[in-house]
Amino acid sequence: MDITVLDVVPKCKKMVIYCIQERSAFGKMLETFRFHSTMIRNCTKRLTLKATIIVVVLFYWVLLQNQEAPISELLEERCDRSGWNYSTTAGRTRDFGSRFRVSFADIQKSQRWLHLPKIKNPTWNRDILMIVASRPGSVSRRKVLRKTWMNKANSKIIRNGRMQVLFLVGMVAGDRDLMKAVKKEAESFGDIIVMNLEDTYDNLPFKVLSLLLYGTNKASDFKIIGKIDDDVIFFPDRLTPLLDENVIDSSSYSIYGYLSQDDELVVRNETKPWYVPETAYNCTKYPVYALGPFYLITNKAANLIVENSRFQNFMTVEDALIAGIIAEGLGIQRHSLPMVFRYRFDNTDGKKILSWHMSKRSDRQFLDFYQQSLALYQLEQES
Ligand SMILES: *[C@@H]1O[C@H](CO)[C@@H](O)[C@H](O)[C@H]1NC(C)=O
Ligand SMILES: *[C@@H]1O[C@H](CO)[C@@H](O)[C@H](O)[C@H]1NC(C)=O
Ligand SMILES: *[C@@H]1O[C@H](CO)[C@@H](O)[C@H](O)[C@H]1NC(C)=O
Repeated sequence: MDITVLDVVPKCKKMVIYCIQERSAFGKMLETFRFHSTMIRNCTKRLTLKATIIVVVLFYWVLLQNQEAPISELLEERCDRSGWNYSTTAGRTRDFGSRFRVSFADIQKSQRWLHLPKIKNPTWNRDILMIVASRPGSVSRRKVLRKTWMNKANSKIIRNGRMQVLFLVGMVAGDRDLMKAVKKEAESFGDIIVMNLEDTYDNLPFKVLSLLLYGTNKASDFKIIGKIDDDVIFFPDRLTPLLDENVIDSSSYSIYGYLSQDDELVVRNETKPWYVPETAYNCTKYPVYALGPFYLITNKAANLIVENSRFQNFMTVEDALIAGIIAEGLGIQRHSLPMVFRYRFDNTDGKKILSWHMSKRSDRQFLDFYQQSLALYQLEQES
C-alpha cells in the first residue's frame, strides 16, 4: 500500500505546483477546501482510508514546501502581478451584515452600510443589478435618472424585472442635514444604498469594491453586476439582444464595456491627476481595462475580485486597478461592447447608443438628449 502512496505522491506534487502556478485563474478555488478535496480525491482514487490520510498530510506538506518558489518566480516574470503581495496580513474584503471590510494589500477600510434597500420580489430571470455611483448631494441628477432610463415606462428590461437599478452613495457624518435628507430619500424611493465612505476621488477604488461586495453578497442572485456613473446616458433595452444572443455570457468570468488601448502607459509624473507610484504598480503599461463610467461584470468575476483584492496594493486609478490589473491577475476576460461611447465630445448624432459618457452636461441637457435618443430608439423598434 505504501508503494502505491509513493507512486501517487509525485502526481499530486505536480498537480499542486500546477495549481500554484495557475493561481491566477484558480486563485479563488485554491483558497477553498472544496478544491483541495477534489485534488486529493483525484490523487487517491484507488487508495484505502489510511493511505488517503497519508496523502492528505503529504498534500498540504507539498503545498507548503512549494509555496515560496513558484510564486516569487511568477512575481518576477509577470507584470500583471507586479503589485501583488502574497505576504499581506490583510483580511479579505468581506461583508459582515451591517458592517463590511474593503481590503487592499496595503490599506484596509472598515465600513458600515448606513441604509440597505430591499431587493424587490425575486423573479426567475434576474439578470442584471445595475448600480449607479452617485454623490450624496446629487439629488436632482437622481431625479433625472429616475425619470429617464431608470423609468419602467422607458425600459422594458427594468419593467419585466430582468434588471434592477440602485444608487450607491458614500457619505460621512458631518453634514447632518444632508445625511438626513439622503436617508429620507433612500427610504421613500427604496433605491439607494448608503455607506459611510467619504465620497472623494481617492476613495473611488473603495467605493467600487463596496459596489461589487454589495452585488455579490447582498444581491447574489443577479448574474451580472453593472457599474455606471450618473453622467452616462444609458439605453438598458439594448442589452436584451446581447444577453439573449450570449454576447454577454453571465456564466463566464468576464467584464464587458469600453476597453482601454493595450499600450496605455502608466503616468509617472507626480503632478498629473492619474499618477501612480511604482510601489503600487511597477509596469510601464496597464493591462487592457474596462473604462469606469460604464461596465458590466459577471457575478462570478466580481466574487473573484472581492476575494482577492487584498493581494493587490492600492492605487487611485480605480478602473485600471479593478477592471484591469486585478482582473488580469485573476484571469478575468475583458470584452468590448458595441454602441458604447466614451467621451463627452464623441459625435453621437443619430447613432445607436447603448451608453454614452456625456460628462459635464446639465440636467436639462441630459434630459433633452435622452428624450431625443429615446424617440429614435422607439422608431427603430417599430420599424
Ligand atoms: C505586504 O504586506 C504586509 C502587510 O500586510 C507588509 O508588511 C509587507 O511589507 C508588504 N510587502 C510588500 C512587498 O509590499
Ligand atoms: C510633469 O508634468 C508637469 C506639468 O504637466 C511638467 O511641467 C513637467 O515637466 C513634467 N515632468 C516630467 C519629468 O515629465
Ligand atoms: C520596479 O521594477 C524594477 C525592475 O524590475 C526594479 O529595479 C525596481 O526596484 C522596482 N521598483 C519598485 C518600487 O518596486
